Amino acid sequence: AVERTLSIIKPDAVAKNVIGEIIARFEKAGLRVVAAKMQQLSREQAEGFYAEHKERPFFKDLVDFMTSGPVVVQVLEGENAIVQNRELMGATNPKEAAPGTIRADFAESIDANAVHGSDSAASAEREVAYFFAAEEVCARS
Ligand code: CMP
Repeated sequence: AVERTLSIIKPDAVAKNVIGEIIARFEKAGLRVVAAKMQQLSREQAEGFYAEHKERPFFKDLVDFMTSGPVVVQVLEGENAIVQNRELMGATNPKEAAPGTIRADFAESIDANAVHGSDSAASAEREVAYFFAAEEVCARS
């Protein structure tokens, strides 16, 4: 089915100037960008977005990192977009990410791991709505 998923190009990848290379991978795989913005996240925004990880030991480092510089937040649309995006990203820890994946090619560590992608249909719905009003998402299929 055609799905939408939330993608974040994280501060490390923005700093490395590989925004375009990452978006090209989405496009080459048949995903379409249907909403996009560059933004400096506030602590409040980052904490709210990652609320499910609030009790995890890495939460403070995660929020520090995600607010360390601008991010590019996008909605990707396409057939099986949620799983497809996760396959393109590779494993959360770049050391475990398969060759040719975004994290294997651009990420340095489990914190500075270049991209975020929604992990389920329920997360995708919540995460898209967290960053974009309905009218900011442009239907393209
Ligand atoms: P992301 O997909 O954005 O979701 C939560 C983030 O927490 C994850 O990517 C990692 O960058 C970061 N993180 C840091 N340590 C861990 C860990 N041990 N397990 C999962 N995620 C972690």
